[in-house]
Amino acid sequence: MKKLILITSLAMMTLLTGCAKKNAHYYAKKQGLDFGFAVTSADILQEPNMTIVKENATMVVSENNMKNANIHPSKKFWNWSDTDHLIEFAKQNDISVKFHTLFWHQQNAPFILNLSTKEEALAAMDEHIEKIMSHYKGQIKVYDVVNEMFNEDGSLRQSLWYNLIGPEYLEHALIKARQCDPDVKLYFNEYNNENLGYAKSEGMYNLVKDFKARGIPIDGIGMQLHLDGTQPLNEDAIRANIRRYAELGLEVSFSEVDVRIPKDNPEAWEQAQQEVYCTLLKIALEEPNVKSFIMWGYSDNGSWVPGTFPGYGNALPFDFNRQPKPVWNAMLDILKNYKVK
Ligand code: G3I
Repeated sequence: MKKLILITSLAMMTLLTGCAKKNAHYYAKKQGLDFGFAVTSADILQEPNMTIVKENATMVVSENNMKNANIHPSKKFWNWSDTDHLIEFAKQNDISVKFHTLFWHQQNAPFILNLSTKEEALAAMDEHIEKIMSHYKGQIKVYDVVNEMFNEDGSLRQSLWYNLIGPEYLEHALIKARQCDPDVKLYFNEYNNENLGYAKSEGMYNLVKDFKARGIPIDGIGMQLHLDGTQPLNEDAIRANIRRYAELGLEVSFSEVDVRIPKDNPEAWEQAQQEVYCTLLKIALEEPNVKSFIMWGYSDNGSWVPGTFPGYGNALPFDFNRQPKPVWNAMLDILKNYKVK
């Protein structure tokens, strides 16, 4: 009798452990979609954060550690340790890593802000690309080469790189990056560029269409998708935009998804928020050139949203105490059961 009880309990434990392993990581791998989160150093050092990331992500990106001011804070000092640690954590857990970002108009070290000639700026760009891409050769799957290069009207942003080098800084960065590592995917990343017909979306599309025509190496574009859950998603405009990138042979990443809702009455908007998350996830699974679905964090604890959009928050699928919300279960269900036709 005792033996029977022991065997039954062992069988139940195996069953339970087996079930526990079938989380978003497992199902996203099965679906062939890179799925995950932007993470902080704490997310890979302490519980319950580590377990949430391990069990659910197949791709991670650092929320801040890879940015210029953090990885290269002064001319002679490279701060590799945070990103090295993230890569080690990812390797141990069968997770791939995206690099965000080589170039941006924000979070630049003082010595970068003090560059004053085109020659200095080109040399600084080249050094940044060479050092990082050789240090991480074979360990990064995708690079955001340039982040947020457009104004809302679709013209190029007058970033420090644009001002010192001119618009050709964009292709210079891509060409140099491709020379340094032919095996990684090179992306441009942007926000408010998901809807066909919006000025910024047109700016991005026309730029990369021209690059493809001229043989400038680019593999994909990121749509950040920091969305307002009180606004309906324009699914047709997003799909049509994604499909024209497919026609150019380009990938798309849903690169920084979060869906903010009013903090004073979140219950009223949770269903609408869930609709947005689930529709985006279905689009990502259905459109063959959408390769990743990355959320900008996973828990409301630490999200950038309340600091930037007063009155808004609750933008992520785990609550402030890192407990999954109904929206997370709905997404998990899609990852698990959704059959792409
Ligand atoms: O680490 C310092 C800390 O030492 C200091 O005491 C504190 C005081 O302000 O600042 C801390 O750094 C902050 C950092 O986040 C880490 O928390 C910076 O001030 C703050 O500017 C930085 O904000 C980040 C922002 O990018 C600017 O880099 C957000 O966390 C991050 O979520 C946000 O991410 C961007 C993407 O890269 C691009 N797309 C939009 C997205 C949201 O803004």
